[in-house]
Amino acid sequence: MHLQNNTILITGGTSGFGYGFAARFIALGNTVIITGRNAEKLRETRQKLPAVHIIQSDVRNPEDIARLYRQVTHQFPALNILINNAGEMRKLIMQQPEQATDLTREIEINLMGPIRMTEQFLPHLKRQKNAAILNVTSGIALMPMPLTPVYSASKAGLRFFTQALRVQLKNTGVKVFELVAPGSPTPLNDQFKEVDGFNPKMLMPADKIIDQALKGMKKDTYEIYPGLFKVLRYVIRFFPGAMLSFAGKMGAQQMYAQPSLNR
Ligand SMILES: NC(=O)c1ccc[n+]([C@@H]2O[C@H](COP(=O)([O-])OP(=O)(O)OC[C@H]3O[C@@H](n4cnc5c(N)ncnc54)[C@H](OP(=O)(O)O)[C@@H]3O)[C@@H](O)[C@H]2O)c1
Repeated sequence: MHLQNNTILITGGTSGFGYGFAARFIALGNTVIITGRNAEKLRETRQKLPAVHIIQSDVRNPEDIARLYRQVTHQFPALNILINNAGEMRKLIMQQPEQATDLTREIEINLMGPIRMTEQFLPHLKRQKNAAILNVTSGIALMPMPLTPVYSASKAGLRFFTQALRVQLKNTGVKVFELVAPGSPTPLNDQFKEVDGFNPKMLMPADKIIDQALKGMKKDTYEIYPGLFKVLRYVIRFFPGAMLSFAGKMGAQQMYAQPSLNR
C-alpha cells in the first residue's frame, strides 16, 4: 500500500512503537494523529514532533472512543489508516491474589480497545481509498509468557480477532495488518529489567521494528514478523512445550515463591 499522503490515527503515540510510527509516517509526508491518556506526555510529544496532532483518549473507555471518532472524522475526514497500538503489560502472579487487582485491565486495553476502535472506525475506513487497520500484537501472541498471563491472553485474542477480521474484510478496500512485534526496550519493558531470566540482548530496537513494519505494509505483507520471530514462529509451532518451558524461566523466582500461609 502507499505510505504517503495518508491520514493516520495511532493509539498510544507518546512513546515506544507508537511514537516511532508517528515520527516515520510524518517524515514520509502523512498527517498523523496520536492518542494517549496522559495530557502532559501528549504535549511533550508535540514539542518533539511539531507536526503531530494530539488527542487525549483512553482506549479502555468506550465513551472516549465515541468522542475520538467524532473529533477525528470531523477534523480529519480523510482518515484512512488506523493503528491499534496502545497497550499495557504487567507481571501478574495468580497465586498471589493481592497482586491481582484490576485483573482484566490488559484485556480491556489491548483486546477490547482495538475491537471497539475497529467497530467504531470501520464504516468510515470502508469509504476511503488506500484504507488499512494495523493491529500491534506480539510474539507473546504466538506463545504465552507465564509471568504475564493476562497480557498473553490479550495478545493471543487480538491475533485471532485480526485474522478473522482480515477474512471478513477481504471484499472491501480495507487491508488488515498484524505486527507481531518482538520484545523491544521501550518503557513497557522497564518493569522487567530486574526480573530473573530477563535478557536485554533479546530485545530489538523499536526503530528497526518500525522499519520492518513499514516495509511489510508497503509490500502488503499482512502478517509482519520482525527480527527473531521470522524463525521463532516455526520453532514455537513445532516445539510448543519446549518454548513454553523456556518462557517460564523468566520470573521463575517470583512465580514459584510460596503464597503467604495466612491466605
Ligand atoms: N515493547 C515491547 O517489548 C513490545 C513487544 C511486543 C508488542 N508490544 C506492543 O506494542 C504496543 C506499544 O507498546 P510500547 O512497547 O511502545 O509501549 P510504551 O512505550 O509503554 O507505549 C505505550 C503507549 O500506549 C499508550 N497507552 C497505554 N494505555 C493506553 C490506553 N488505555 N489508552 C490510550 N493510550 C494508552 C501510552 O500512553 P499513556 O500511558 O499516556 O496512555 C503510550 O503512548 C503495545 O500494544 C504492546 O503490547 C510491545
